[in-house]
Amino acid sequence: MTPYHPIGVFDSGLGGLTVLREIRRLLPSEDLLYVADSAHAPYGDKSVAFIESRAIAIAEFLLEHGAKAIVVACNTATSAAAQLLRTRYSVPLIAMEPAVKPAVERTRSGVVAVLATRQTLASHNFSRLLGRLETQAEILLQPCPGLVERVEAGDLTGAATRDLLRTYLEPVLARGADTLVLGCTHYPLLTPLIRELTGPDVLILDSGMAVARQVRRRLSEVELLAPEARAGRERFWTSAHPARMHAFMARLWGGEVELAHWVESET
Ligand code: SIN
Repeated sequence: MTPYHPIGVFDSGLGGLTVLREIRRLLPSEDLLYVADSAHAPYGDKSVAFIESRAIAIAEFLLEHGAKAIVVACNTATSAAAQLLRTRYSVPLIAMEPAVKPAVERTRSGVVAVLATRQTLASHNFSRLLGRLETQAEILLQPCPGLVERVEAGDLTGAATRDLLRTYLEPVLARGADTLVLGCTHYPLLTPLIRELTGPDVLILDSGMAVARQVRRRLSEVELLAPEARAGRERFWTSAHPARMHAFMARLWGGEVELAHWVESET
């Protein structure tokens, strides 16, 4: 493995682009591989065994393409499969952690709301995180079924997405939450709409930048950071049909994307 090898990143779909964006910002010289498993999104309503098998298939694909590290840019896949991936592979494995700790430190009302999938909120990882922090603030858990599907369908601002978000935000705002933790990597793509519904005084936190910093730290520890004097490039794969995904993905990424179809039997 050399510093010139790429970093592999994956998500159940397009949400992990919010993490990829932060990695690109922090590490401009790294080559990045991204797999969107959109044919199987959302993971939030799937069994742990199913998510584990998806995570293994994707990790194998990324390693075959030379990944020197793997970033699980999906909270649900982190809850279900990050530990398993750590035991199977020796490359640095970086996974998500909802930004509950910074939220507890920054809330003024003492009430924090965590928006995530049911899988994430019910996971052992999340209970452990909560156990460490729930004496310091009231932490409201708000599952958000259906939101990932709205994002995958490309609807970031429409009436159906707005109505769904309103259903999830109104109860936690009514209970005094002044800080929202976006505990699913798809949700930061809805920040403008969330902001519109909460008004300006609510703090909205996600963990994209923290994960990017962790990627830098882990690669630096194992001396695998790419030399600074080069421009990194990105390659994207989707398990869904690229023609269906391409325009929206390019819009989310903010530029042209080199997107290929990941056909598993060919890997
Ligand atoms: C999902 O695929 O259901 C959610 C992805 C995430 O939790 O980040």
